Formats: sequence, structure tokens, C-alpha cells
Amino acid sequence: MLITLNQITKVYQIGEVDIPALRGVTFTIDRGEFVAIMGASGSGKTTLMNILGCLDQPTSGQYSLDDTEITRLNRNELAYIRNKKIGFVFQNFNLLPRTSALENVELPLFYGNRLSSRQKYQRAIEMLTRLGLADRLEHYPSQLSGGQQQRVAIARALINQPSIILADEPTGNVDSKTGQEIMKLFQQLNQEEITIILITHEKDIADYARRLIHIKDGEIV
Ligand SMILES: Nc1ncnc2c1ncn2[C@@H]1O[C@H](COP(=O)(O)OP(=O)(O)O)[C@@H](O)[C@H]1O
Ligand SMILES: [Mg+2]
Repeated sequence: MLITLNQITKVYQIGEVDIPALRGVTFTIDRGEFVAIMGASGSGKTTLMNILGCLDQPTSGQYSLDDTEITRLNRNELAYIRNKKIGFVFQNFNLLPRTSALENVELPLFYGNRLSSRQKYQRAIEMLTRLGLADRLEHYPSQLSGGQQQRVAIARALINQPSIILADEPTGNVDSKTGQEIMKLFQQLNQEEITIILITHEKDIADYARRLIHIKDGEIV
């Protein structure tokens, strides 16, 4: 099993107040799956994504990824796993603003590999070309449409050849036609054996996945 979550809880503390965001989440995801996690706003989707993506630790429970017990790792170990195994795609694209498409995609290559600057450059160009952006290499994010920015973000997510793509509402800021194109792209990547975990509150977007997990008030339903 690629991912095993067992009784994961997350409680945020704001001053004296405890906010339970996840209340004992248990499920597994196999290698090569395309899963959509669906739920209303505030149901705990982003909290769950942050834990799955090793960006945050749960309050209690066990999370095993690729046979590594994630809940025992320190910050550095989490960062290592994250960079090696997971590509992230966000609703707001999260591109660096005064940085070209090419440089945005090259960025993850600056940690933990032995590629020369020439090789990094070549690899980023290949990835952007694959995503149909060969003629936008030097454009800044503000000079690109929402759909193009999201494709730059997907190129960046793919550049370290992750085994998992985690996408949190990736179509939330693009029009519906562009949203469908992005979902078809994820389907294509999934056919190349990349595990896709997609978070959404839209049914027609979730329908592109092969399995649905519903979350409500921090619990799987
Ligand atoms: N950093 C935080 N501090 C405090 N409460 C938070 C924080 N992040 C999320 N929450 C709360 O946790 C619950 C789940 O939020 P979230 O995971 O963002 O849901 P979703 O992504 O499904 O909209 C909500 O009640 C939200 O207000
Ligand atoms: Mg969210």
C-alpha cells in the first residue's frame, strides 16, 4: 500500500479554543490510483492534504507512506520525503511572481540532486514543452492566463519525477473549459503510473477520478 492513514486527528489551537479539523480519518491509497477527496468548505480537505503532503503533522494517529512511518519524522526528514516523492498543485498556482515560467519550473531542481545548471535548464524546457508552453518560457506569471499559470505549476510539480501528485482545488481559479483540460492532463499523468490525489468540492471535477473519498466535518463518510 502506498498510503495508509490510521485514525488521524488534527486539532488546531487558537488561544484557549480547540478546533478539531480531522476526527479520526482512516483510509488507504494504492500505488497508481487516481482518487478525489470531496467535501464542503471547512470539512478538513486542506488540513488532510497538508498531512498527506508531509507539510504538517497530525495531532494523533499513524500515517505510513511507502512503508515509512511519517508521524515519527522530524522537519528535515519530512522535507526530504516531500521533495523526493510529492509534487504539489494549488488553487492559487503559488508561482513566484517576478520569476519567469522557466525559472519557476527549475526551482525544485536546486535541492538534493547533482544535475548541472545546463541539465536543469534542459529538463525545465522539456517539461514546459510537454505542457504546451514552449513559447512562454520567459513569460512572468502575470503575463500568463490562469490555465497557463496552472500548467507552469504542474510542470514544476512534475520536474522532480514524483510518484504522487497532490492537487488542492487545482481548477478553483480557472474557467470550466480550462478546468476540464487540467483534469484530462491529470488523467494522462495517471496513465503514466503517477498516483493522483485531487481535492475538490466540485462533483464534475471529482468525476475525472477513479475513486471518491467523501469527507464531512473532519470524518470520512
Ligand atoms: N491554521 C488553522 N488554524 C485554526 N483553524 C484552522 C486552521 N486551518 C483550518 N482551520 C479550521 O479547520 C477546519 C478545516 O479547515 P480546512 O482543512 O481548511 O477545510 P477545507 O479545505 O475543506 O475548506 C475549519 O473549521 C477551519 O476553520
Ligand atoms: Mg481547502
